[in-house]
Amino acid sequence: MSKENSTNQFQEIISHCKEYGFIFPSSEIYEGLSAVYDYGQNGIELKNNLQQYWWKSMVQLHENIVGIDAAIFMHPKTWKASGHVDAFMDPLIDNKDSKKRYRADVLIEDAMAKIEEKIEKEAEKAAKKFGDSFNREMFLQTNPNVLRNKEKLNVIETRFKNALEENNLTELRQIIIDLEIACPISGTKNWTEVRQFNLMFSTEIGSVADEAGTIYLRPETAQGIFVNFLNVLNTSRQRIPFGIAQIGKAFRNEIVARQFIFRTREFEQMEMQFFVRPGTEMEWFKHWKAARMKWHRSLGFPENKLKFYDHLKLAHYANAAVDIQFEYPFGIKEIEGIHSRTDFDLKNHQELSGKKLQYFDTELNQSYTPYVVETSVGLNRTFLALICNGYENQKLEDGSERTLLRLPAFLAPVKIAILPLVKKDGLPEKAREIFDVLKFDHKCFYDEKDSIGKRYRRQDAIGTPFCITVDHQTLEDSTVTLRDRDTMQQERISIERLQQIVNEKVDWRNGLK
Ligand code: GAP
Repeated sequence: MSKENSTNQFQEIISHCKEYGFIFPSSEIYEGLSAVYDYGQNGIELKNNLQQYWWKSMVQLHENIVGIDAAIFMHPKTWKASGHVDAFMDPLIDNKDSKKRYRADVLIEDAMAKIEEKIEKEAEKAAKKFGDSFNREMFLQTNPNVLRNKEKLNVIETRFKNALEENNLTELRQIIIDLEIACPISGTKNWTEVRQFNLMFSTEIGSVADEAGTIYLRPETAQGIFVNFLNVLNTSRQRIPFGIAQIGKAFRNEIVARQFIFRTREFEQMEMQFFVRPGTEMEWFKHWKAARMKWHRSLGFPENKLKFYDHLKLAHYANAAVDIQFEYPFGIKEIEGIHSRTDFDLKNHQELSGKKLQYFDTELNQSYTPYVVETSVGLNRTFLALICNGYENQKLEDGSERTLLRLPAFLAPVKIAILPLVKKDGLPEKAREIFDVLKFDHKCFYDEKDSIGKRYRRQDAIGTPFCITVDHQTLEDSTVTLRDRDTMQQERISIERLQQIVNEKVDWRNGLK
C-alpha cells in the first residue's frame, strides 16, 4: 500500500474508532487534551477482553507466574534506585523559527526510514521496468544509487548508535545537520542545541509543596513488582525461576505524542518480571522472546506484520533487549519490549533501602540476587494493532460495500447480537428470551431497529462475530439463524444447541490452540 493510502486508511480508522464508540479524545468538549484518550463503550469491552486474555495466558496458564496490583504512587526513592530520576530522558531539540520541539532521535530515525524508502522505491521502479526478468537481490547489490544510499545509511547508523551510547548530544545535533533535516512546520534547518528532558510527571503528596514531598506518577509498572519481590517470595511458595505479572497505568510526559493511541502520556502496560538464576538469563530471554511472539500470532496478526528488532542502544538496566514490532499503517513500530534486566533493579533497591533482596537457592545452597527477564507489552498499542489489522472496507458481490472489524471472536466487544427479523408477531419476545439466557455468559446486544441488513452492518463495524436472527420459523420449530461476520454465511440451528455452539465459538482457548 502506498504511503498516501496508508495515511488515508489510518485517518479512516481513527474516525471509525470514534464513530463506533471505541475511542474518544479526552475532555473533547474542552477541545481535548493532547495525547490523552478515553475508551468508549466498545473500546472498554475490547480492552478488558484483551487484558484478561493476557492475564490468562501469563498468570492462569503458568504455575510459576503470579499476579499483583501495585499502587501508581510509590516512594520517591524507587525512581532514584531504578535510574529513572537520572536517566529516563529524551534528547530534545527545538526549531528556532517554528518554536516546535522534537525528539532528536526520532528526527534521525525518520530520516533514516526515508533513505530506506528511497532504496525500496528504486527497487520497485526497476521491478516494473524489467518485469519477470528482474533479480531483486542482484539489483540491491549492484545498483549505484542503492549502494550509495546503503553506504549513507550504514555511516549514519553507526554514528547514531555511538552518539546514543555515549550520550553525545553534540553529535546527535550534528547528525541532524548533516542529514539536512528540516522542521516540517517552518521548513528551516535552524536548530537549537540538543538537551535532555526527563519524562516523568511529578506532583506533591500531602499539603507541603517542598522537594521532600515530590512524588512521581510511575513511568513503568515494573518497579511495583521489584519492590514487592520479597513479599511475593515469602507468601507465594514460589521458587526460582518464577514470574510476577501486573497490568496497570503508566505515565510519561512524551514530547512527540502522535499516531493516535500509539504514543500517549497516560497508557497501560502488561508486564511480567521473570526471576532467574544468574547465568541462565539468556536462555530465559530466548524462551520469552519466542513465547511472546507466539502470543501476538494468537491474536490473528499475520507473520509478515510482526518482526523482531534488536535494540541499537540498550536501556540503562539491560544486557539484552529486543522489541516485537507490528506493521501499523504509519510504519513498523514497537508493540512489546523483552529485556534482560540483569540484577540491576533488585541490587539498586537493596542498596538504597538497606533491605536484603536476595534469594536462597537450596539446590546451590547459596544466596544471590536473582536476574530478571522482563516482558512488557503496551495494552493500548496491542488494541490499536487489533483494530488496524481487523479494519476492512469490503466490496460485496451485489456491488454494495461494508466495513468490518475482523477481531478474534474471543476479544470482540460484543460476542453475539440478537436480532428479531421484525418488530412484531412475538419475535421480539422470543429474541429477548434468548438474550436473557446468553447474557450470563457473554456480552450480547439486542437490536430491533432498522432493516436486518442495516443491523448486520452495524455489528460488522464493531467486530461482532455472530448475529442470531429470530424469524417466523423460530416460532414454529425453535430454530434461529446464526450468521458469521467474516463469511456472512448463515446456518440454521436449534435454540437448544445455541448456548453450547456460541460458547465454543467465542472461547478464549481458541486463541491459544
Ligand atoms: N518496563 C519496561 C518498559 O517500560 P518500554 O519499552 O519503555 O519498557 C514497554 O515500554 C511497552 O510499553 C512498549 O513496548 C509500548 O507497548 C508501551 N509504551 C511505552 N510508552 C508508551 C506510550 N507513551 N504510549 C503507549 N504505550 C507505550
